[in-house]
Amino acid sequence: MKIIHTPEEWKKIRSGIASDKKIGFVPTMGGLHNGHLSLVQKCHKENDISVVSVYLNPTQFNDKNDLLTYPANFEDDSALLEKAGVDYLFAPDYSAMYPDGYTYKVIETDFSQKLCGAKRPGHFDGVLTIVMKLFNIIRPQNAYFGEKDFQQYVLLDGMVKAFFMDIHLVPCPIVREENGLAISSRNRKLSEKGLAAAPKLHEILENESSLEQKKNELESSGFTVDYITEHNGRLYAAAFLEGVRLIDNIPLKG
Ligand code: PAJ
Repeated sequence: MKIIHTPEEWKKIRSGIASDKKIGFVPTMGGLHNGHLSLVQKCHKENDISVVSVYLNPTQFNDKNDLLTYPANFEDDSALLEKAGVDYLFAPDYSAMYPDGYTYKVIETDFSQKLCGAKRPGHFDGVLTIVMKLFNIIRPQNAYFGEKDFQQYVLLDGMVKAFFMDIHLVPCPIVREENGLAISSRNRKLSEKGLAAAPKLHEILENESSLEQKKNELESSGFTVDYITEHNGRLYAAAFLEGVRLIDNIPLKG
């Protein structure tokens, strides 16, 4: 696995890759776990060359403390990616990604204002902008995103279509712990007690109760509900547990 730090380095390599070779790309913020690795494995299987980016993108964090405490370790991440057979790891820094100082942004004005977007001002501007930059640098044919962040996937798919970008987005199922908890880097911030309570989020989403009942059940299980909403045939929720913001979503039955 070759580690690359600048767009210029990758552009040189990219120009040497034959045009009939399929390049698959998985953007991440590091702190890699089995959820990320499922995307990486699919990417590796479906393409000739696999590229993963590890970049903790500050512009998508509205909460500075969340950014500062983000549990990622570059050595661990790069060892996991090497073992997974990744060809190139793109690990830029802020000056490489934001030569403009974030004066240029990609903004969506409808769905990005709802659900997580309503609770995290500017979050999806940061996500759309960094992914647009990464796509323009890497120029993959296929890019892999987890349904764990379903709203993110929908917005990115919309961006690719709105701007006629020649990139195929591949949605990947949520990887869960055996107890149902959606795997997330932020789960590492929970205490043992928190980790024991966290699977309740998925359990309560799945049970038969009304939205109001689900909200009450979550609150009485120790969560502070940020939102719980149905949108386009899907049930979305975000809730704080021990100050850690957990999200999940499931397709609505019937
Ligand atoms: P990050 O949270 O690191 O996630 C990278 C990718 O892994 C996303 O597509 C996310 O949906 C997927 N993922 C995370 N946990 C998963 C799980 N349990 N099951 C399936 N997929 C999972 O999402 C981001 O980074 C950033 O917003 C990014 C797109 C990289 C832009 O900065």
